[in-house]
Amino acid sequence: MKTAESDIAIFVNASQVVTCAGPARARRGGEMNDAAVRDGVGVAVDRTNGRILAVAPDAELRASHPRATLEDCAGGVLVPGFVDSHTHAIFGRARYEEQELRAAGVGYLEIARRGGGIHSSVRDLRTRDASELAALAAARLRRIAAHGTTTVEVKSGYGLSLESELTTLRVIRELGGERAAGSEGTPPEPGSLGGTLRLVPTFLGAHEVPLEFREAPRTREEYISLVTREMIPAVAREGLARFCDVFCEPGVYTVDETRRILGAAREAGLALKLHADELENGAAAELAAELRATSADHLAAISEQGIAALASAGTVATLLPGTMLFLGRPRQAPARALIEAGVPVALASDFNPGTSPTVNFPLVLTLGISQLRLSAAEAFVAATVNGAAALGMADSIGQLAPGFSADLALFDVSDHREIPYWYGDNRCVGTWLRGRPAHRR
Ligand code: NIG
Ligand code: FE
Repeated sequence: MKTAESDIAIFVNASQVVTCAGPARARRGGEMNDAAVRDGVGVAVDRTNGRILAVAPDAELRASHPRATLEDCAGGVLVPGFVDSHTHAIFGRARYEEQELRAAGVGYLEIARRGGGIHSSVRDLRTRDASELAALAAARLRRIAAHGTTTVEVKSGYGLSLESELTTLRVIRELGGERAAGSEGTPPEPGSLGGTLRLVPTFLGAHEVPLEFREAPRTREEYISLVTREMIPAVAREGLARFCDVFCEPGVYTVDETRRILGAAREAGLALKLHADELENGAAAELAAELRATSADHLAAISEQGIAALASAGTVATLLPGTMLFLGRPRQAPARALIEAGVPVALASDFNPGTSPTVNFPLVLTLGISQLRLSAAEAFVAATVNGAAALGMADSIGQLAPGFSADLALFDVSDHREIPYWYGDNRCVGTWLRGRPAHRR
């Protein structure tokens, strides 16, 4: 079917377009330093299939599509919608009380040992029903969208029982998550976030060992078999998640336990992610490489061997600088060493109630530059193409190039480097998902 001209929109009058155009795969090494920023071009999108038609000078696009709708960028900067490839966005109450505890010297894992931290979110989530969780998450996800993000990975992991984990994942699906591969282009349900954000669900039943499995007669081993024998098969049967993740960390899940859980997940058809070497080194990055995980996330405590292993496996290193900042920890992930070793680096928010309650992706770019010492180009590539690669989606989202999903964010700045520069401010004035308006300020 031929596309009617009115279904074409052209974004004109942008002062810059950060295209990140290039190969449809994770960028590594020197490739990360090219965000393919172009001046004097516009973007034509086809709203019938939600894809980008062309990136070319405005006049050229207007001449080839004389009846197209015009979207005036008013001298702003157009970027690919950010791909936030790591969040824990389904939770109940906020955990502001832990911030002062940490400031007073109580560590993150010590708070967990006292029954706070993840356990406190688990107790809270189990008291809420699906509609309450959906309403809380929808409001938070809209704020994420308002900062320029168009794709968000969302993990379960505050249920830690078969029923609560399935409820969490069903909430994600209802909010607009994808039912199954091939659902791109299916119209969103009315009232869902499907027109605002693309949600990618991850099962994180092994986020902690729940308290009720730490005392006789129940054991952590029983919980692990609940995860591998009941939860993972149920999640796979209902098609509720694309990825399985595990918090692999000394004091949480060991490398051997993680290997078993992710082995079961792979068998069930899920792709793999790990919370790896977040606080202390436990050779979790090496495990991510061994399992050929799609991404290894956090990595503030990764070793030299871990870096080499990720480089040879091609696993994306997803760095979450907001988490270390918010926890007040002095050590950030060794982003420069990772890039120099050839590991593709992605940036994400880790949005969650305990360690990173930020919805502000441009702030994550700021931290990528000031804390991880990325260049602006590397930060943009890490937030778009490499975020897409961390979700196994680098062939369809993350760059402004013909054929890619027309997911865009517009900022009222005249140079793309101002987006991380005005730190903490929100200069995003609009986002478009599959070529259609998703957020407008
Ligand atoms: O990525 N580390 C594990 N999970 C989250 C924190 C979860 C929480 O504290 O609620 C993280 O930092
Ligand atoms: Fe996390």
